[in-house]
Amino acid sequence: MSKAPASLPQPPGGPSERRGPEPRSRHADDQAWIEVITEMDRIYADLVHYQVELEQKNADLEDAQRFIQSVISSISDVLIVCDINGRVQKVNPALLEAVGQDEEQILGQPLRQLFAPEYHALIDGFPEHIRSDTVVDCEVSLLDSEGQPFPLAVNCSPRYDHDNRLSGFVITGRPLGELQKAYRDLQAAHESLKTTQQQLLQSEKMASLGRLVAGVAHELNNPISFLYGNMHALADYERKLKQYLDAIHGGIDENAREALRKKLRIDFLLSDMGPLVEGSLEGAERVSSIVQNLRRFSMPQQQASESFDLVPVIERAITWVLKASSRPPRIERQLPNTLPLINNAGHVHQILINLLQNAVDALQHTAEPLIRISAGQHDGLAWIEVEDNGPGVAPEHTSRVFDPFFTTKPVGSGTGLGLYISYGLATEQCSGSLSLDRSELGGARFRLELPMEQRT
Ligand SMILES: Nc1ncnc2c1ncn2[C@@H]1O[C@H](COP(=O)(O)OP(=O)(O)OP(=O)(O)O)[C@@H](O)[C@H]1O
Ligand SMILES: [Mg+2]
Repeated sequence: MSKAPASLPQPPGGPSERRGPEPRSRHADDQAWIEVITEMDRIYADLVHYQVELEQKNADLEDAQRFIQSVISSISDVLIVCDINGRVQKVNPALLEAVGQDEEQILGQPLRQLFAPEYHALIDGFPEHIRSDTVVDCEVSLLDSEGQPFPLAVNCSPRYDHDNRLSGFVITGRPLGELQKAYRDLQAAHESLKTTQQQLLQSEKMASLGRLVAGVAHELNNPISFLYGNMHALADYERKLKQYLDAIHGGIDENAREALRKKLRIDFLLSDMGPLVEGSLEGAERVSSIVQNLRRFSMPQQQASESFDLVPVIERAITWVLKASSRPPRIERQLPNTLPLINNAGHVHQILINLLQNAVDALQHTAEPLIRISAGQHDGLAWIEVEDNGPGVAPEHTSRVFDPFFTTKPVGSGTGLGLYISYGLATEQCSGSLSLDRSELGGARFRLELPMEQRT
């Protein structure tokens, strides 16, 4: 702004106007007036300009205030601004709603009065505390309009003025009610999950027990039916022998005795009794060893290996299966004279029984049923193949035949455990392998491979 003239000229026509003014001084006065008026115009224009600027700044300030207010109002967490003495300067609607009070009742009051008495000491410590540190996730309770605790997790941070001097602190608090409810729900869900898990565990245990019982029953079935068959035959022999001896003791003449001897097939009967008793003993031993092997379910370590010849084990398995069969197939052997192994003979016998039994079952409706059993050795491995000319395994079943309880037999005829047990015995107990293929005979071919020396 330019300065006003040093001395004001007299206005034209005023009381001090001299008559007949000199044209020169009059001109100077006019000039001065013009300058004054121009200066005033400029000052006025400046004023107007400042006024406009001021109004604009005012409007900006109001906008900023509205913005800050709307942000504060939309915060769902509780917000409390305090001065350095712990008196409330500003709160947000979330706080007002939580404590059920008006702003006027709260502003200027000590912060502690908003909180439950047990937290007063803690709250009183805030102004001191924030000088050195912030308060993070501290749990306190406000008092609601009914004096009930309203739990919050609060953070408290220092607030500085424009000279960067500590001027107070700001508290933000997140209501814990929802969190606590969510936590309780989570806890309940966790508990129910634990119960379900326990139940599942229990039913899994029962299922395992069921599998164990079914597996044992499956393994016992064969030697017991073999024993059963033998005992029937022995009972029949005993009846015939008694009849023959009664006749002799009754003084039957020689011709009649010979005729009776032939009729009752006494010679065959006597020669068959030895193997029958031997076979029955074997069956009984097998039952006893199966029962002993039950231990492997509780102690899954390998059973002791023994030295044995594979060929007689194969022969015994064939005998067992054929004896129990109502429609024995023709057996074709391609076996060496001897095949010594160090492994578990009982397990190998059980696997062969299962493979042969399956082949016999598969051949039930085959016109000229044939089973080929071959064995050999290579690179320290003994192999045995059991194949048949039955219908074979359907392609969609090949990946499932070793699964527990997989069976294509009618309900009550098969448990679907034979191959599952055999696979477990072959791989885990005998350190070998068991695989399925198609046979050139038309049916299935199972191949068992065993290390020739498995020492445990
Ligand atoms: N030689 C075979 N020819 C055709 N299918 C076979 C043969 N061996 C096994 N299978 C198929 O594999 C399935 C499973 O055999 P696995 O011995 O495990 O049980 P299963 O014989 O059905 O019942 P279980 O052994 O309890 O009597 C059989 O149901 C059958 O479908
Ligand atoms: Mg079977």
